[in-house]
Amino acid sequence: MADDNYSIAELETAKVEAQQLTDRILELRDAYYERDEVLESDEAYDRMIHRLEEIERLFPELQSQDSPTQTVGGRAETTLFAPVIHAERMLSLDNVFSTDEFLAWATKVERDSDRSLDYLCELKIDGLAINLRYVNGVLVSAATRGDGVVGEDVTDNIAYLKTIPRRLKTDNPPPLVEVRGEVYFEVETFRKLNAEQAAEGERIFANPRNAASGSLRQVRENKNEAAIIRMDRRLTRLSMLVHGIGAWANPPVATQSETYKLLAEWGLPTSTHYRVTSTKEEAAEFIRYYGEHRDSVEHEIDGIVVKVDELVLHEELGATSRAPRWAIAYKYPPEQVNTKLLDIVVSVGRTGRATPFAVMEPVRVAGSTVRQATLHNQDVVKAKGVLIGDTVVLRKAGDVIPEVLGPVVELRDGTEREFVMPTRCPECGTPLAPAKEADVDLRCPNAFSCPAQVRGRVEHVGSRGALDIEDLGEVGAVALTQPEYPVVPPLRNEAGLFSLRMRDIFPIEVIVRDNETGLAKLDEKTGEPRREGPFKRLRRKSGKDADPVFDPGLVDENDEEFAGDAMYVPSKRATSLLENIQKAKTSPLWRIIVALSIRHVGPVAARALADYFGSIDAIRAASREELAAVEGVGGIIADALIDWFAVDWHQDIITRWADAGVQFATPGHPGPGAAGDADGPLAGLTVVATGSLDGFSREGAIEAIIAAGGKAASSVSKKTDFVAAGPGAGSKLGKAEALGLRIIDAEQFAKLLEGGPAALE
Ligand code: IVH
Repeated sequence: MADDNYSIAELETAKVEAQQLTDRILELRDAYYERDEVLESDEAYDRMIHRLEEIERLFPELQSQDSPTQTVGGRAETTLFAPVIHAERMLSLDNVFSTDEFLAWATKVERDSDRSLDYLCELKIDGLAINLRYVNGVLVSAATRGDGVVGEDVTDNIAYLKTIPRRLKTDNPPPLVEVRGEVYFEVETFRKLNAEQAAEGERIFANPRNAASGSLRQVRENKNEAAIIRMDRRLTRLSMLVHGIGAWANPPVATQSETYKLLAEWGLPTSTHYRVTSTKEEAAEFIRYYGEHRDSVEHEIDGIVVKVDELVLHEELGATSRAPRWAIAYKYPPEQVNTKLLDIVVSVGRTGRATPFAVMEPVRVAGSTVRQATLHNQDVVKAKGVLIGDTVVLRKAGDVIPEVLGPVVELRDGTEREFVMPTRCPECGTPLAPAKEADVDLRCPNAFSCPAQVRGRVEHVGSRGALDIEDLGEVGAVALTQPEYPVVPPLRNEAGLFSLRMRDIFPIEVIVRDNETGLAKLDEKTGEPRREGPFKRLRRKSGKDADPVFDPGLVDENDEEFAGDAMYVPSKRATSLLENIQKAKTSPLWRIIVALSIRHVGPVAARALADYFGSIDAIRAASREELAAVEGVGGIIADALIDWFAVDWHQDIITRWADAGVQFATPGHPGPGAAGDADGPLAGLTVVATGSLDGFSREGAIEAIIAAGGKAASSVSKKTDFVAAGPGAGSKLGKAEALGLRIIDAEQFAKLLEGGPAALE
């Protein structure tokens, strides 16, 4: 299933198959581990596991913590902890994945109960289920769920959680009550914990749930003092919320919500994020709300649990062997999934930075398919502890960039291998080195001719933020710098870009590569790599004298032979590329500055430089102090500019571009010192634009601020006067709120541009 979307019907079918596979696999495991019986061949067993893994990859919603793909064979409890038999079985929950499915469940429950119902809606905490057993009000044991019947005794470790009472606050405790809940780390605590673990060279946890499980299932035996201190530190920071009861004879409450009130009175930690609704539609609203506000909760949630509030109905409706009929879990699309780490490859970017990134089996997570994720540098690879061939936990929350969190160590089979950071640039063979001694990142120092860097810079020239040249994207950049033919590429680096002629680009051939693997695609007939001429078109032969021999020398429009019978002619794309390159020569100065790929000089700094100095000559002539003093430039950028101009081949780029007609000065600019419109409505004001502002493109908003005499800053600070924020505004908006800055919407922004702050009064 390559498609990103699948229908509910497909999901349903997959769910049935996954359940059948799960049942059978568990049956086989049970037979094998409990009775020494082998019911199927190893091969058949592996096939089932693989099929289940495949289904879970395609439909990550179906992957549960206790899926056979997530657990190793054998019994649920280990020998590390004493077994505890739960007084009442700990059940699981059935899942639904859509509002329709949820409403269908509720409709059926209402029909079976023969009345309308109140529902208790609460968050499904992504943690570890724990059963607390109180006898005459005293905590006698705390146990993990285990296989539902027998769990592991973790009483000693649970004692570290200060929020769990050793004795219930009541004069009249029941003889026996089992209180069930979830142990977890709050997201913030988890982050801190991982930072500490990393600083101390300890293992990093893939997610709060793994960390909670790992922390609670620690044993003190054979530990040195430092390890015990670390272990205790982790345990004391765990949290717990209770969400139900097990064995309890004659409870003095009639509803689930009353139960929570009583448990809270007894001193047990209950959640504040629950609501009782009188219709299933309101419950669906609760589900929808938290689907959009998952990140507003202090702990991770993987869904919503909806329970029938009235306890009599729990009795009446009963349970299947797996789950109660009076409750359901609505599962949100997972933000974390497991997938295979196929390889770690190193790519070199425009700036020469060598970045290892993970190549994974494609997997759906948070609504899109992910195949790759950056691993930043060799230290990060080490800290994450991932090996090539590992099953890894991949996270992608909403629109956030996907991240490999860590390996699932239990699923290793010994074939995994360590990643070794190459010592040489994978594209040009130059030894990699940090730019500065203290840098972790390694770089290829061959900026002049490393194909990866040249390709990256040429692509950057054509990108939207720079000269916005159509046809000069990723493929165009490869064609011009690393074609399969001709052997000597038309561009050795970007210096020759504006001098390209038709005869240079038209004969180009590239090898078609697979986007994911980077491997050449093969021609089905010949088995040879498939080639493409992005800038040429087959010419219809004219007359019987047509010469079928391809001769790239015959194609300049001014060449006599061009009008002859050569087999190929330039394509429309070739003509349009050259036309667009031609047009780009008179782009605004700031865009041309961005196109030079000077470190730290993006659109904001480039505009500030262009506005102030008016020409590249004036920028080159400026001292470090003069550069640094310009609003929006500063010391770091000034240094980067000085360094850049000091390199001969950089000067050569300017000379050759200028010779080819690139306009390195803003016509009519009076020279250094004259900034935007000093009398404009925004004179002296700093404005940050974030999110999508109706009526403005991102760039349009920045341009409008500058045109009105204001300063368009890229980040929010105390010095910011206005923050224009639209839908999709992220951390900048949060920061603006925290600083108490004036936040305006698109409409107010338009007014501000027209009439300055007075227009908003
Ligand atoms: S009620 C009879 N409420 O999710 C089982 N469970 O996937 C009643 N969980 O085993 C469980 N948050 O460990 C319930 N608010 C919540 C929950 C919750 C997390 C866990 C629980 C259960 C698992 C099922």
